[in-house]
Amino acid sequence: MESTVVQNLVTQFFSVDHERLDFLFRMYRENKQNQRYKAVLLFDKFSEGLKRHIRWEEELLFPMFEKATGMNGSGPTMVMRHEHDKIRAMLDEISESLKNDDHSEALEKALSELLLLHNEKEEQVLYVQCDRALTEEQLLTLFLDM
Ligand SMILES: [Fe+2]
Repeated sequence: MESTVVQNLVTQFFSVDHERLDFLFRMYRENKQNQRYKAVLLFDKFSEGLKRHIRWEEELLFPMFEKATGMNGSGPTMVMRHEHDKIRAMLDEISESLKNDDHSEALEKALSELLLLHNEKEEQVLYVQCDRALTEEQLLTLFLDM
């Protein structure tokens, strides 16, 4: 069957969203010394966007992949879910320290390093597998529900 859907749509869409989020996080870090107010807004936007990205994965994309491949409770999505828990906790910790005007440099560096590895695994392995495993109808459901 000939597919008319953009090739590698999952990989493309979710990878570009990673780029957008990385950019917001970098802008926050570049502005936090001199433009505190702007930096806080940037961090909130980044954190909110990353949590939404994770929700799309955990509630829609991963279950579809798990169903299509029969990989339930094992495999790449379990590792990713575990890392998401860490990422969410770090986002909340940074957000707390921003409210209290605390120094969060070390935490931000750790998050940045974790995200680099996490995103690389998703972009090079999991999304590619999703693009292979999901049908056009599943893709449609995914993008309608997002
Ligand atoms: Fe993820």
